[in-house]
Amino acid sequence: MINFSKEQFYIVTGASSGIGEATSILLNELGASVIAIARNLERLNIMKSKCKYPENMHIEVKDLTQDIENLPKYVKSLKEKYSKFSGMAYCAGITDVTPLKILDYKTIEDVFKIDYYAPVFMTKGLTDKRNIAEDNVSIVLVASFAGLGASRGMTAYCGAKAALINSAKCISKEFVPLVRVNTVSPTDIDTPMTQEENIKGFINARLDKYPFGIGEPIDVANMIVYLLSKEAKYISGQNYVIDSGNIL
Ligand SMILES: NC(=O)c1ccc[n+]([C@@H]2O[C@H](COP(=O)([O-])OP(=O)(O)OC[C@H]3O[C@@H](n4cnc5c(N)ncnc54)[C@H](OP(=O)(O)O)[C@@H]3O)[C@@H](O)[C@H]2O)c1
Repeated sequence: MINFSKEQFYIVTGASSGIGEATSILLNELGASVIAIARNLERLNIMKSKCKYPENMHIEVKDLTQDIENLPKYVKSLKEKYSKFSGMAYCAGITDVTPLKILDYKTIEDVFKIDYYAPVFMTKGLTDKRNIAEDNVSIVLVASFAGLGASRGMTAYCGAKAALINSAKCISKEFVPLVRVNTVSPTDIDTPMTQEENIKGFINARLDKYPFGIGEPIDVANMIVYLLSKEAKYISGQNYVIDSGNIL
């Protein structure tokens, strides 16, 4: 049975919404201490108000795209404030639909900052021996089916997620057996991200491809939390597709 202790500290990014919110609440319910990171304090507090053990939910307001190179130092500062970490679920992200004709450098850069560079540099901090607990340290990075497939107008997003999936495998090879590193790649999940006007159209066009219906944040959170737990101690360097049975 999956459970955690309050002495086990996990960073969850994107904790104010969607998949990150569901992951934070589930980890907390199963007994872990969570450092919940996002920019929006109000939404972080709403997430905290839903927690079973609010005393084990610690909120940190941070824009992860500011000073990306120093994110390992940020992880170190969190370690000094709280404790050594047992792992991280990196769930922050943005999406983008921009046809190549009008795609500019800034748009690609914005997507890569939060969907690729920040997770890599947060992972750098979480693989530093001085910041982590001694055994069963696990990192789960939320990628996307977009990193495996291809969609019109999604050059930047598909590129960033494909890069993340493969870089995570590289990192897992570098840090085995000290740290396990895996990615999860969901298809469409019902979150504020997929409510965005320019994304809704995509999803409505492929609703018939979801044998189990459209996903809920908890469908992804369950897999993330399993991979973070000691029950998954034999698993690293993998990418798990969560796709309602069939879309790719
Ligand atoms: N929903 C889907 O269908 C789907 C499918 C495949 C993959 N994914 C991936 O799953 C992850 C979570 O997506 P979601 O659907 O849960 O999206 P969401 O509900 O929009 O949540 C995104 C989270 O990222 C945080 N975030 C965005 N920019 C940030 C920044 N600069 N600094 C710090 N935090 C930032 C947001 O918090 P603040 O705004 O408070 O900062 C929010 O908590 C993303 O990586 C997404 O690409 C989603």
